[in-house]
Amino acid sequence: MKVLLVLAHPRRDSLSGRAADAFATAVAANGHTVECADLAAEKFDPVLREPDEPDWSDDDKVYSEAVRREMARIERNDATVMVFPVWWWSMPALLKGWIDRVWNNGWAYGARKFPQRRVWAIGIAGATEEAFAKRGYDSAIRTQIDIGILDYCGVSERRFELLYGSIEGQPYPERILRRAEELGRAF
Ligand SMILES: Cc1cc2nc3c(=O)[nH]c(=O)nc-3n(C[C@H](O)[C@H](O)[C@H](O)COP(=O)(O)O)c2cc1C
Repeated sequence: MKVLLVLAHPRRDSLSGRAADAFATAVAANGHTVECADLAAEKFDPVLREPDEPDWSDDDKVYSEAVRREMARIERNDATVMVFPVWWWSMPALLKGWIDRVWNNGWAYGARKFPQRRVWAIGIAGATEEAFAKRGYDSAIRTQIDIGILDYCGVSERRFELLYGSIEGQPYPERILRRAEELGRAF
């Protein structure tokens, strides 16, 4: 399978970046190929402007060149995996804006559905699983991303994973990297 690995972190050597690498290495060892989309390094503009605003009366709207480039990058792969740090119990604005602009009407939802069957989202969280559960942040982010975005766009082989405790000190970061590798092996 050809996998598009989307990373949304300002620093490639962050824990999120290293988790993405651990995932990618394991996925590649399973015989898949990986194309990396490092949105920050590529300076992707996450702000949805008028050319990329959905036109509800036009399922065939031609979006901006930047968005068409992103759509082509998804279309030439069989699956997408998004790796991101959890910011404010959600995804970074960079990734949200990539979805706002690229997962657009008539291409990802509406008249047509997202062109790939398999999309995974892996969030690297600073807080522990218990802290997430205490206030319902885990079910909130899961509903938002897994149901509100992936299911809404018709992704049937979807998976949402939170890897917890990145800023809690060891053993959490090591565990996160191990878990990312396990997910890569399970892909
Ligand atoms: C702007 C910002 C907001 C954050 N919000 C949360 C949050 O809501 N919940 C949480 O568990 N961690 C939060 N964190 C911590 C990140 O999730 C943490 O930095 C990341 O998981 C791991 O480190 P990395 O940045 O090296 O990839 C936040 C970090 C930043 C910079």
